[in-house]
Amino acid sequence: MSSKFQELKNGIVYKNLFNGNWIESNTKKLIDIKSPINNKIIGSIQQMTKEEVDKSIENSKKAQKLWSDTPINERSRILNKAADIIEESVEELSDILVIEIAKDRKSAVSEVKRTADFIRFTADVSKQLEGETIPGDSFPGMKNNKISVVTRVPLGVVLAISPFNYPINLSASKIAPALAAGNSVILKPPTQGSISTLYLAQVFNEAGIPSGVLNTITGRGSEIGDYIVTHKDIDFINFTGSTDVGQHISKISTMKPLLLELGGKDAAIVLDDADLDEAADNIVAGAYSYSGQRCTAVKRVLAIDSIADKLVAKIKERVEKLKVGHPEEEGVVVSTLINSKSADFVMELIDDAKGKGANLLVGGNRKDNLIYPTLFDNVGLDMRIAWEEPFGPVLPIIRVKSIDEAIKISNESTYGLQGCIFTKNIDRAFYIANKLEVGTVQVNNKPERGPDHFPFLGVKASGMGTQGIRYSIEAMSRPKAIVLNLNKAN
Ligand code: NAP
Ligand code: G3P
Repeated sequence: MSSKFQELKNGIVYKNLFNGNWIESNTKKLIDIKSPINNKIIGSIQQMTKEEVDKSIENSKKAQKLWSDTPINERSRILNKAADIIEESVEELSDILVIEIAKDRKSAVSEVKRTADFIRFTADVSKQLEGETIPGDSFPGMKNNKISVVTRVPLGVVLAISPFNYPINLSASKIAPALAAGNSVILKPPTQGSISTLYLAQVFNEAGIPSGVLNTITGRGSEIGDYIVTHKDIDFINFTGSTDVGQHISKISTMKPLLLELGGKDAAIVLDDADLDEAADNIVAGAYSYSGQRCTAVKRVLAIDSIADKLVAKIKERVEKLKVGHPEEEGVVVSTLINSKSADFVMELIDDAKGKGANLLVGGNRKDNLIYPTLFDNVGLDMRIAWEEPFGPVLPIIRVKSIDEAIKISNESTYGLQGCIFTKNIDRAFYIANKLEVGTVQVNNKPERGPDHFPFLGVKASGMGTQGIRYSIEAMSRPKAIVLNLNKAN
């Protein structure tokens, strides 16, 4: 462990960042973090108490006042320094992701490098934070004696809650824009992913953010979550995670502005004029990378009947070649899922599909928490896999008779994150894209969140609000109007 991360822990117990220092909880109540790969304890985190949460948020509120007065060019410099530190620590941070969340090394390195790029781009965008001036007399009946000077100001204390599958990137995607806008941040990491996330917090600390501008709160969301999200001094909640938890937060966090990035059931619609090799390549990469544990994973294929046999054969051929094994192994795509609860759920969906007559072409079996790449054809709309989010390496193929049937089935999902269309006909692509009830439609590409300056949003059960660097900065800031009432000089 490089020296910059030494202070994070005492033995195997990871501390929390509070007011610029790494501190131990008074309760000594610990949660062991075990690697999904071998179930060995890789560290312990602290279950913080409500009193400690109060202190952390109080400290954050004070620090935010000073931070909001920090010049934007200084905030930008610190963000760039954080990006530098990440780039110096790619191997160390990737190692942690591999062991803590069983992310294959290629995806782990990609997450870390992407995070540095994200923060650097945010630093640049922060310099473009501008307002406007509006003359009063452009409105009917008004004289030219009023002018509104509009600037953007921070919201205050931002609560950032991130998911297990991108603990570094999806924490930074909240922290960096929040800091750029002049907010302070309370970071609640995913329990499985906490260690990776605490390393990221130290990156910002090492980069020179003032004490208290970023504080961490570890502990199970189910135990401390409600207290934090309803805390009177939290001014904004930036949450990425499951729809169930997101909707719960939305219900209890009365009047707090929210940014919610939730679950998905992204459909790949393949038309009869598609390049079937291109479609199969994208569908398999989209469905199975990081063992299918991505919100933007392809989670159903809607294939026009006339090309379905050919497409299915191409997908099957690719699925059978997917490398399964230890996430450290070169080329591994599918590895153990994050925990047994997730693996049990995926097997429930597989067994339901088998029981209702889906045609199992590949996989369908499990070893511990590893689910082998699974492919179903002829999936019916009566099957759970047609509608529920597995968050695992299982792909259902639903055959459809027309474009309109594909649109109908796609839109009947409670989710609305992304969708993708494979066709050579731009008119048909736009016809479908305009009708899909999702945040983003990819044409001839798998669904994906990046590049990170694009808007990224879910509708319906997939979320609320828009992520994406500039969009996130805007979400975590607001206009402030100062109206000058000009008395005519005599
Ligand atoms: P999760 O179980 O909802 O947990 C997400 C975060 O919420 C974790 O930090 C969790 O803490 C915390 N949490 C749990 N209960 C809470 C509560 N009552 N109050 C406040 N926070 C609480 O989701 P996950 O298993 O980490 O991630 C997988 C899910 O997230 C999938 O549904 C996936 O589709 C979705 N996701 C969506 C996106 C997107 O951008 N749309 C990206 C990634 C993942 P603990 O870990 O301590 O429980
Ligand atoms: O589930 C994580 C979500 O943000 C997807 O990101 O870049 O893999 O599409 P990406």
